[in-house]
Amino acid sequence: MQRDTNPISLFKAWYQEELDQSSLSIPSAVCLSTQGLDGYPNARFVSFKEIIDGSFVITGPLNSRKGLEIQQHHQVALTFWWTTTERQVRIQGVAQKLSPEPADSYFEKRSRASQVVSNISQQGSEINDIALLQSTVKTQLKINEHIKRPESWGEFAIQPIRMEFMQFKPSRFHERWLFERHKEQWLINQLQP
Ligand SMILES: Cc1cc2nc3c(=O)[nH]c(=O)nc-3n(C[C@H](O)[C@H](O)[C@H](O)COP(=O)(O)O)c2cc1C
Repeated sequence: MQRDTNPISLFKAWYQEELDQSSLSIPSAVCLSTQGLDGYPNARFVSFKEIIDGSFVITGPLNSRKGLEIQQHHQVALTFWWTTTERQVRIQGVAQKLSPEPADSYFEKRSRASQVVSNISQQGSEINDIALLQSTVKTQLKINEHIKRPESWGEFAIQPIRMEFMQFKPSRFHERWLFERHKEQWLINQLQP
C-alpha cells in the first residue's frame, strides 16, 4: 500500500485505480449506513459523486428515509468494496446538507429517465396505484421540456472523521490502515487483519 499521509489523496488514488480497471457498470456504488429513527442501523447503496473540500458527496431525495435519518443523526458511514483491486474503504463522518446550487448542477447531469422518475416518484412512499404512476412517467418522458430539480432532491457532503483502508492479500494477512482526524491532523495506525 502506498504510504500516503493524507487519506483523501489515498482514497483518490485507489478510486482512480479501480475505475481504470473495473468493468462494472456502476463502479461508484457505495453502501451508506445511517442510524434509523427506530434505532436499527439502516444501509443501502447510493452513488458516490465526488469529493468537495475533503467531503464525500452523495445525492438523492432529502425527504426519503435516508434523508430523514441523516437530518436526525448526522453521523453516517460509507463503505466501498472494490472488486478489481480487492480493496475496502470504510468512512465514518458527519453529513451536512449542501446549498441548492450544486444540487441543480448534479440534477442536470442525471439521465432524463432518472430526472423524470425523481420528479414523479416520492421515494420510499407506498404505491397505491402503480399503473397511474407508470403512465405519468411515460407521459412525462414523451414531453420534451426541461425538468427542474424537485425541491426535495439534494445532496449531502460527508466530512470524514475516520477512514480505514484495507488491501486484500493472497496470504490473507490483509493490510489495514486507520486514519483518524484529530483537529487538523490525521493520526495513522496499522491494524491487525
Ligand atoms: C448501485 C446503486 C446506486 C444507487 N444510487 C442511489 C443514489 O445515488 N441516490 C439515491 O437516492 N438512491 C440510490 N439508489 C437506491 C438506494 O439504494 C435506495 O433504494 C433508495 O435511496 C431509498 O433508500 P431509503 O429508503 O433508505 O432512503 C441506488 C441503488 C443502487 C443499487
